Amino acid sequence: MKTHLISDSVYCLHADVHTDELFEGIWPIPDGVSLNSYIVRGEKIALIDLVRDWIGAPQQLKDALSSVNLAFSDIDYLILNHLEPDHTGWLAEFRKLNPKAEIIATAKGINLVKSFYKIETGLRIVKDGDTLDLGGGKVLTFFETPNLHWPETMVTWDAESGSLFSCDAFGSFGALGDRVFDDEFNEAEHAFFEKETLRYYANIVSSFSTFVERAITKLGGLDIKCVCPSHGIVWRKNPKEIIDRYARYASWAKGPAEKEIAIVWGSMYGMTKLGLDAVIRGIEQEGVPYSIHRVPDENVSWVLADAWKSSGIVLAMPTYEYAMFPPMAYALDIFRRKHVFGKKVLRIGSWGWVGGAKKECDAALEGLKWEPVECYEWAGAPTAEDLAALEAKGRELAKLISKEQ
Ligand SMILES: Cc1cc2nc3c(=O)[nH]c(=O)nc-3n(C[C@H](O)[C@H](O)[C@H](O)COP(=O)(O)O)c2cc1C
Ligand SMILES: [Fe+2]
Ligand SMILES: [Fe+2]
Repeated sequence: MKTHLISDSVYCLHADVHTDELFEGIWPIPDGVSLNSYIVRGEKIALIDLVRDWIGAPQQLKDALSSVNLAFSDIDYLILNHLEPDHTGWLAEFRKLNPKAEIIATAKGINLVKSFYKIETGLRIVKDGDTLDLGGGKVLTFFETPNLHWPETMVTWDAESGSLFSCDAFGSFGALGDRVFDDEFNEAEHAFFEKETLRYYANIVSSFSTFVERAITKLGGLDIKCVCPSHGIVWRKNPKEIIDRYARYASWAKGPAEKEIAIVWGSMYGMTKLGLDAVIRGIEQEGVPYSIHRVPDENVSWVLADAWKSSGIVLAMPTYEYAMFPPMAYALDIFRRKHVFGKKVLRIGSWGWVGGAKKECDAALEGLKWEPVECYEWAGAPTAEDLAALEAKGRELAKLISKEQ
């Protein structure tokens, strides 16, 4: 197995998980996910972040450790930046193999070690700015970064190598294979990971965007030479790229995002789609790029990623039992929970006898701070007049998006 040296004393170990099981029980990972851990060596040895017993991850971690001539029993300190079970699920088994290693986390993190894993001894609480001297001149510093992703989260900093061990922050979906560093991936692979980073951000991190901004400001004074997240690429050539990317994604929580439109639509018999095609013609006339997502056919994970990224949204759905088309209601509920705020939106749809989607949709959008273009609905199949109006609506939304700062 290949070893991934960040410096003489810092190594990246990783396990790739490929599974049909959903991440967090919700989000598909067709291209897998990596669980990255790190070794930092002084006279003592620290392991940063663990794995879950998930599709062979502990064995992969064991093999990666042996590739640097280490075993679990050699670890002196286990640093847990974040207690979510993707990074800690295997903790009780690790403890059995190595009863002497001290487990280090924030106060809230140590509480979770006790409640999740029923471990009561060999625990050390660290606070913001505390250090851990590994001997041989190697000193680690801990910075609390609450809500990135859970309230107990911290990051670990190795000033000597300039490595920031950031756990979920700066992470991505997508398995890594036998390479981990940004300079080892080609352009097409980077394009793939960029998409998976956005999807990971929108699915996992987006509701904590304020905390992402706070953490980036807080860590701004560090001379970061390598960003070492616990999912995805390790950034040693261009660490600024992933930090800037996260800062950009976080800024989209408050205001304009990319000058793009995410179209989310659902239809039973195609009447709504006829109207949507006219809206799309209008958008195309203004030359604004758009993505198109049919629900429920497309999993909301991808819909959410494009909605997060786009300044404009089109919602196209029929009335269903006096209310919204149910898969759209689900998508909007996810948008609300994930703080997809500050969008410009056009809502359209067909109804059969009395409608009802509009009323429920207006109520659902209330909490989202979205700016609507006036909604357009029609009975049954759209007339030529409806189509002309819908085309104009598409142009109106697209113009609003192109004008945005
Ligand atoms: C299961 C079902 C429930 C419906 N509920 C309503 C309703 O409550 N109010 C209404 O005006 N039309 C209702 N309709 C009629 C549809 O809204 C209408 O057929 C519309 O044109 C469907 O658009 P679509 O072809 O894009 O799915 C319902 C249709 C179906 C199949
Ligand atoms: Fe997490
Ligand atoms: Fe994670």
